[in-house]
Amino acid sequence: PGSSDLLVVANRLPFDLDDDGEWRRAPGGLVTALEPTLRSRGGAWVGWPGKPDAAPAPFDDEGMAIRPVSISADEVAAYYEGFANATLWPLYHDVVARPRFERSWWEAYRTVNERFAEAAADAAAEGATVWVQDYQLQLVPRMLRERRPDLRIGFFLHIPFPPAELFAQLPWRRPVVEGLLGADVVGFQTVGGAENFRRVAALLTDATADDAPITVDGSAGHVTAPDGRTITIGAHPISVDAGHLDETARDEAVAQRAEALRHELGDPRTVLLGVDRLDYTKGIDVRLQAFAETLEDGRLDPAETVLIQVATPSRERVEHYAEMRDDIELTVGRVNGEYGSIGHPVIHYVHQSTPRDELVAFYRAADVMLVTPYRDGMNLVAKEYVASRPDGDGALVLSEFTGAADDLGAGAFLVNPHDIDAVGDAIVTAASLDHEEARRRMGLMREQVLTHDVERWAAGFLEALGVGS
Ligand code: UDP
Ligand code: G6P
Repeated sequence: PGSSDLLVVANRLPFDLDDDGEWRRAPGGLVTALEPTLRSRGGAWVGWPGKPDAAPAPFDDEGMAIRPVSISADEVAAYYEGFANATLWPLYHDVVARPRFERSWWEAYRTVNERFAEAAADAAAEGATVWVQDYQLQLVPRMLRERRPDLRIGFFLHIPFPPAELFAQLPWRRPVVEGLLGADVVGFQTVGGAENFRRVAALLTDATADDAPITVDGSAGHVTAPDGRTITIGAHPISVDAGHLDETARDEAVAQRAEALRHELGDPRTVLLGVDRLDYTKGIDVRLQAFAETLEDGRLDPAETVLIQVATPSRERVEHYAEMRDDIELTVGRVNGEYGSIGHPVIHYVHQSTPRDELVAFYRAADVMLVTPYRDGMNLVAKEYVASRPDGDGALVLSEFTGAADDLGAGAFLVNPHDIDAVGDAIVTAASLDHEEARRRMGLMREQVLTHDVERWAAGFLEALGVGS
């Protein structure tokens, strides 16, 4: 395969190799956002095929060059399940679960980051733009610059960057920051995340370390790296392919599917919906609990209300994930046992990956969308719901601790997910909302999402990197 002028480097390829050797769509918001972006621009995607030890050959997918990086089973355990998802993921999400700090995981993280940097260096044309993604690959910008000083390097973090006081727990905080500062532009979902990172970089200046200091030059949005380069730090809130979702939702077949779905549910007055990877940061537990309490105190009628919870399997070999799956399934069973009747459960729980077209029908069928993470970088599901409501109806209950709250706060019902009474109140308010008020709120959110779509996000980031679209 030849070399490319634009590369995306991410832990995951846009597709996963399954056990039968078939490619299927990879999970998560990163892939949702970047696939249309890279497809429309053409370029290469460097990433892992999602299966230990798999080493498929590079191939072309309609103008997008796919460059698989192989990761061994031991490395998957230490780098992916360990350092990425049992150290960094909980640490960056406000230590919602306790992060584990294992030295052998860090070694694997470094080794695998080197491999991605090498693969990117091999695939990049002279002077190319390389866009490195997310917390799994924070060392790649510096490693890549050491190999290829000719490149423009950008880094975008899809998850929150935590406050300095939490980040400081990481025994490898300095090499992580130095890894990121290998980029020319470091982007975050929110202004808060960007500020946290600037502060962390500044604090490390004072560390009495024997390695090179990191200085902040004081001007907003810029940091000076140990080698004297100026690095741009900024907030680039990610979004969805709003036009495409809007169009899909207008499709007659989708509208019919949404109607059929409500019918299959027994034509309830109110359909509530949650769509998440089964992840402890998503607040699925508080949502179920708050829903149960509104049934208990009679504010919602179990005969007239249904909650659909899509909980896509995710990272099932990581301990916290397995535990929380058990908890959630116990709660679903308990609530259905208490408030459901034969043929009419109050919670429809789907532990499967649901195709995107089907999700759009779900979004259209739902009166109230429940998005209640304890912490979330953005939460694309919230924006997808809004983009999928060309009818202008529907209400969104949204955690204030999501990036999406910055963008949709004017129309959503913002809640503190730690305040279970507040979540219950918001569910009841949203479910009994006056039609005109619901349309007013949805109108505000639709305007935001339709004018700030994923294409605008990508163009904005690449522009900061000095690349015209
Ligand atoms: N998604 C999907 N099928 C599912 C569940 C989720 O395609 O069964 C998609 C969803 O439409 C969204 C993404 O996965 O595009 C989730 O992104 P989000 O930012 O909400 O959360 P993440 O999983 O990245 O933490
Ligand atoms: C989030 C992360 C992505 C990740 C996705 C799915 O969106 O920001 O980097 O790819 O979750 O998680 P997984 O571990 O299955 O890749």
